[in-house]
Amino acid sequence: MLATSALRSSGLITRQAPSVYGRLSTVTRGERLRKRSIQHDARELAKQPPVAFVFDIDGVLVHGPQPLDAAKRALAILDGANPLGTKIPYLLLTNGGGVGEEIRRKRLAKQLEYDLSPNQYIQSHTVLKSAVDKYADEHVLVLGGKFADCRYVAESYGFKNAYTTLDVHAWNPAVWPFHELSSMERESTKAVDFAQTPISAIFVFHDPRNWALDIQIVCDVIQGGGIIGRRPSNQDKQSQDAAEQKSVELVFCNPDLLWRSDFERPRIGQGAFREAFQAVFKALTGAEYPYTQYGKPTRATYKFAEQMLRDHLQELYGPVRELPQIYMVGDNPESDIAGANAAGWSSILVHTGVYDPRQGPPMHQPTQEVEDVEEAVRWAIEREMKQRSA
Ligand code: G3P
Ligand code: MG
Repeated sequence: MLATSALRSSGLITRQAPSVYGRLSTVTRGERLRKRSIQHDARELAKQPPVAFVFDIDGVLVHGPQPLDAAKRALAILDGANPLGTKIPYLLLTNGGGVGEEIRRKRLAKQLEYDLSPNQYIQSHTVLKSAVDKYADEHVLVLGGKFADCRYVAESYGFKNAYTTLDVHAWNPAVWPFHELSSMERESTKAVDFAQTPISAIFVFHDPRNWALDIQIVCDVIQGGGIIGRRPSNQDKQSQDAAEQKSVELVFCNPDLLWRSDFERPRIGQGAFREAFQAVFKALTGAEYPYTQYGKPTRATYKFAEQMLRDHLQELYGPVRELPQIYMVGDNPESDIAGANAAGWSSILVHTGVYDPRQGPPMHQPTQEVEDVEEAVRWAIEREMKQRSA
């Protein structure tokens, strides 16, 4: 209900109005309509803006540890310094990960000098929170990140028996004779007898640090039907062995072949690890191994992001009737732009990351191409303003 003060300042009611009923008779139909539209505008103003942003991180807001100046300027615009005269909501959606959301969110907030609330931040493996039920009590292998970081993330999601490839090496160094655990690696390990521990699923949370060790162990788990070191099922005695050996689920959280860090040229990412694993597995078995893919551009990740945006808007403005126009700002056509286009969002491709315009048109056509994230935000707000005034 619009405050009496607002009604009074609009001249709709005078000071000496005795009671609502008495008062009513003096209010003309025109005045009632004007009052209703002011109430409506005021509610609208207090409610969600017509636009929201979803930002990729690497190559858009930061280059490795280095925040981009354009990123701070863009966040200042969203913080209120814009023609809409209001805070504009946004999320961060990265194919990165490897540590808990809280740890990285706080680190980013420091880098960017802007507070970020928990439901404003999504990593490539955050979506696994919705896959925990199936494997909460099973033995699973988690790959990627440093030492046992991904085990802690998996445990924070609800996986009760999560092991790393370093645990496997500590159990039996002969699994990969070309590596010796460092003292920090050994400290991060958990004592497990993998000859008695059937692995049900393998989750590649983040970019593996030791590709050779990880590829060897993933092949061992799959070919051993979950038991590392067990002889692969024999083709001709198919039925009997196969029954004994259950198939292991394989899940990758980030398909990026390339990503932009603080080196001049893009770096190979988790997608390259997946290609390397599949090449070795095919050479060993004659076929690639089936897997589930999460991360941008997958539909699962964009649906998850839309729900997080809804939660964030609900937190800011109360019940969300409909989502505002969503602008995805990204540096990678294959992940950021392809996913946003498929989700029916608007997409803006920046030139500060993986995509280099000198190499020709992008594989996936964005709504707009711009130099950096600041230009992206300015362009999108202007576009929305034009559409509102049209
Ligand atoms: O490892 C992260 C990388 O693949 C890309 O991250 O933030 O550009 O989605 P981002
Ligand atoms: Mg990126």
